[in-house]
Amino acid sequence: MVNSAHPRPSIDALQTELVQWRRQIHRFPELGFQEQVTSRFIAQKLKSWGLEVRTGVAKTGVVATLRGNSDGPVFGIRADMDALPILERNAIDYASEVSGVMHACGHDGHVAIALGAARWWSEHRDQLPGTVKFLFQPAEEGPGGAIPMIAEGALQDPDVEAIIGLHLWNTLPLGQIGVKAGPSMGDTAKFTLTVIGKGGHGAIPHQTIDAVVVGAQVVTALQTIVSRNVSPFEPTVVTVGKFNSGSNFNIIAQTAQIEGTVRCFNLEMAEWLPKRMEQVIRGICDAHGATYEFDYKRHYPAVINDPQIAALVRFVAEDFLGQEQVQPETTLGGEDMSYFLQKVPGCYFFLGSANAELGLDKPHHHPCFDFDETALGLGVEMFVRCTERFFSA
Ligand code: NI
Repeated sequence: MVNSAHPRPSIDALQTELVQWRRQIHRFPELGFQEQVTSRFIAQKLKSWGLEVRTGVAKTGVVATLRGNSDGPVFGIRADMDALPILERNAIDYASEVSGVMHACGHDGHVAIALGAARWWSEHRDQLPGTVKFLFQPAEEGPGGAIPMIAEGALQDPDVEAIIGLHLWNTLPLGQIGVKAGPSMGDTAKFTLTVIGKGGHGAIPHQTIDAVVVGAQVVTALQTIVSRNVSPFEPTVVTVGKFNSGSNFNIIAQTAQIEGTVRCFNLEMAEWLPKRMEQVIRGICDAHGATYEFDYKRHYPAVINDPQIAALVRFVAEDFLGQEQVQPETTLGGEDMSYFLQKVPGCYFFLGSANAELGLDKPHHHPCFDFDETALGLGVEMFVRCTERFFSA
């Protein structure tokens, strides 16, 4: 059910432009740290509205400062701007013009929404008792633009005191907001395992150590970590996404390559999981006389929302859209917004963008991903209201 709440008229008036900006960026998607055209587009708009603009932050990032009518606190708004290596399959007139690259996660919309908020505040400076800082971040999809942006001073001069960001979210229908205090998105890791056995003839198995059999047992045993070692109340995932082994039907494989991802919310769990995994792997390999190489890389830490800022976002969302439209949404997907939230209190929330009636409800990272652009104006209204509430609190 699409909510009847509308942005205020002065934001509603931006809707045509929001759609234009989003579609322009959608047509020319760029991968992480290559967002040159996107970055120029953003900087040019911000400069034309009179913001102080710093470009080339973490290669392609843009940081813009908008000072209001007094030296109040500094509120940060963050948007990511990179696309994905996916071939777009949408038959739309604003489809990607770059083969094999697509805005399949909605970051084109994130840019448009943050630009919309910048535009609106630039026209309402007299109502702004402080400073708003806009952070346009590269490479969220990897390898990660938040760390280099922070290292290059994106949160300083003037120092950001609280920060918010949003993700357009096709898991929620248009008109809904997902927000939760505390862990909101997952701690993510990737593992690569090579099981090393002893190859040989398929008819003479007793002279071999079969890497397929050992690897298969490892995959099965890894399933017991979440189901038998972790509390059912602790969201955790161990996924084996890849298993490569063997060369022919009558040859016993020497090695098996296994890769996967591990997700959780809790730091202690994130540190314990690779230890437990290796214990299981070692035990099974030992039992069969196989050896192994295990590589485990932590990726982004969990997104942890500050309780006060999350309460502020929730209040604003309920006030704007209605209490029943606000959900405690969480996901074990990863986001490097987490690094900003480790530095300053803030909140990352989900903006419902699915419209099943229009077929705009494909999952993120799908080659036919698209969202209901009505969400753009709702996003601007959320950012503007959160900023107002922050300064009035
Ligand atoms: Ni995303």
